[in-house]
Amino acid sequence: MKRLTDMLAVLLLAVMLSACGKEPEETHAGQTEKLELTEQTETSGAATGTLSVDAKPEESSMADAEDTQQKGDGSVINDITFNFETKTVMLNSGYEMPIFGLGTYSLTGKTCVDSVTAALNSGVRLIDTAYMYHNEESVGEAVRNSGIPREEIFVITKLYPNQFAHAEAAIEEALEKLDIGYIDMMLLHHPGTGDADAYHAIEKAVEEGKIRSVGLSNWYVKELEEFLPQVNITPALVQNEIHPYYQENDVIPYIQGLGIVVQGWYPLGGRGHTAELLGNEVISEIAQAHGKSSAQVILRWNLQKGVVVIPGSSNPDHIKENTELFDFELTKEEMERINALDRGEKHDWY
Ligand SMILES: NC(=O)c1ccc[n+]([C@@H]2O[C@H](COP(=O)([O-])OP(=O)(O)OC[C@H]3O[C@@H](n4cnc5c(N)ncnc54)[C@H](OP(=O)(O)O)[C@@H]3O)[C@@H](O)[C@H]2O)c1
Repeated sequence: MKRLTDMLAVLLLAVMLSACGKEPEETHAGQTEKLELTEQTETSGAATGTLSVDAKPEESSMADAEDTQQKGDGSVINDITFNFETKTVMLNSGYEMPIFGLGTYSLTGKTCVDSVTAALNSGVRLIDTAYMYHNEESVGEAVRNSGIPREEIFVITKLYPNQFAHAEAAIEEALEKLDIGYIDMMLLHHPGTGDADAYHAIEKAVEEGKIRSVGLSNWYVKELEEFLPQVNITPALVQNEIHPYYQENDVIPYIQGLGIVVQGWYPLGGRGHTAELLGNEVISEIAQAHGKSSAQVILRWNLQKGVVVIPGSSNPDHIKENTELFDFELTKEEMERINALDRGEKHDWY
């Protein structure tokens, strides 16, 4: 009888172990596994199981397990549902990133330092810069002088294609110019010759703890399909042009379906186009109904689509206004009215 009880106990233990599924590390698609294509992630509602911003990937394994979805075919993808309470999203790298920030294209020198400082003072904790913006030093200066703990600020920078051939040196250059210890996320700014090798250099810097997360910019469906099989770390984020006149409605669900966060550049249409977009009749009408500005409606529309926003501004009032996105919600009908404005109209060449 004892022998039978022992056998049953062993059997029960085996069943329990197999029901536990994968270890959190194995489900951590971004860092260790090649990408597996799965159906689209849900993007509505608030996510649970988030981490403090300074959490390291190893520390986040339990939350990662909660923030992943097991599909019928056994593959697992990261849950990139936005958390509207913490105003963050969990990246597939295990780091938490704010869902709104400041873009710094065309802001240089003192203007850049002042704009980033104004943003940080208004509660912005995500700053987007790039080698090509010639302002990494200024962004770093504002971050260092802010008095805000480094771990609370998320800085994205980018390697330009003319740096791909010497990516390792370019990464060191970015670290030196920013001078903020580590880089939260580095993107390849555009597809280009040697992009996979440059990405591998970033992967190495991730291993060395110099960079925390890696991503791409201006990669669309075809480019992603070709690129992803060549890399080891699934990108945590793709940053593309997205605004009501260029919505990328085919691209966004594809990227999000891979557990990769989408971030939109030119959210207000980009300089030279903002007046037309902010003055759009539909957007203005919706803004009036909510007692908000057109800019806020466009930014909120992005957030409700699961798209991270990084509007650029050097005006402290606009910078503050662009953070006040969480005291109203667009109805399904209002979202559809803005969706109907799509013209497939790119405001830049890439
Ligand atoms: N990856 C890429 O290839 C790529 C390409 C382009 C841009 N980006 C990134 O995306 C960011 C955003 O793009 P962007 O800055 O060029 O264009 P944008 O955010 O679409 O528009 C910026 C313009 O909007 C105005 N603005 C901002 N907030 C406003 C508000 N609340 N009300 C009225 N006007 C407002 C700004 O003027 P004021 O200064 O007067 O506020 C500025 O002229 C860039 O800064 C950059 O970080 C990336």
